[in-house]
Amino acid sequence: METHSYLRRRDQIQNYFNDTAADAWKRLTSDAPLGRIRQTVRAGRDEMRATLIGWMPDDLRGVRILDAGCGTGALANEAAARGADVVATDLSSSLIEMARQRTPRTFGAGHVEFIVGDMLQPGLGEFDYVVAMDSLIHYSAPDMVAAVSRLAEKSKQGVFFTYAPKTPVLAVMHAIGRAFPRSDRAPAIEPISAFKLGELLNSEPKLGSWNMCRTARITSGFYKSQAVELVPE
Ligand SMILES: C[S@@+](CC[C@H](N)C(=O)[O-])C[C@H]1O[C@@H](n2cnc3c(N)ncnc32)[C@H](O)[C@@H]1O
Repeated sequence: METHSYLRRRDQIQNYFNDTAADAWKRLTSDAPLGRIRQTVRAGRDEMRATLIGWMPDDLRGVRILDAGCGTGALANEAAARGADVVATDLSSSLIEMARQRTPRTFGAGHVEFIVGDMLQPGLGEFDYVVAMDSLIHYSAPDMVAAVSRLAEKSKQGVFFTYAPKTPVLAVMHAIGRAFPRSDRAPAIEPISAFKLGELLNSEPKLGSWNMCRTARITSGFYKSQAVELVPE
């Protein structure tokens, strides 16, 4: 059962990625030229996507993947190009429409099904891997960990997710961000320290038989994100 804070934040995220930021997001995830700062973000995100996909086998034929919060579908399409059978879901119908346009008609062995809706919705099926790249960073740490535990229920081999690591510089930028009028800003990113995240993951009963394996921090200009691999015992 989703908490009130999760549902409230989910509505804000949906509005933001469906409306306010949809065009900027489509551009960021395309090959279109960008300003210097956004270019660093694009480069960091490309590196993060490569890292997460690199944690899976090279040959993804017959492997089922849930791309949880897929945005414009870059990770889903890369995985399908390597043969995976992907379900990709996002709250934003506008980004899903873009993702569908960017998806080749055929992939050979691979396939992507795009679905508008919450990544936690029942009925999406069972997967080998569930990947949530930068799609849980706007939720409070307890809500993010609860969501990860729900994603783990759908996964047989691994859940890969990213979080915004709490660092002193980021904490200052975060505080500055909060000074803007509410209507002008994106749903806040909720940075968390590795220690606090570890504590929350350890105390989540549904993750009792899951272990944290690899982690990777990607820093590129204004992009800073940390990937975590959870695997079942
Ligand atoms: C920062 S974008 C990242 C998109 C994509 N994973 C990528 O890396 O390009 C975050 C995305 O997560 C989606 N999202 C956030 N919460 C979600 C939820 N509960 N269910 C489905 N999508 C969600 C947002 O709509 C948004 O498109």
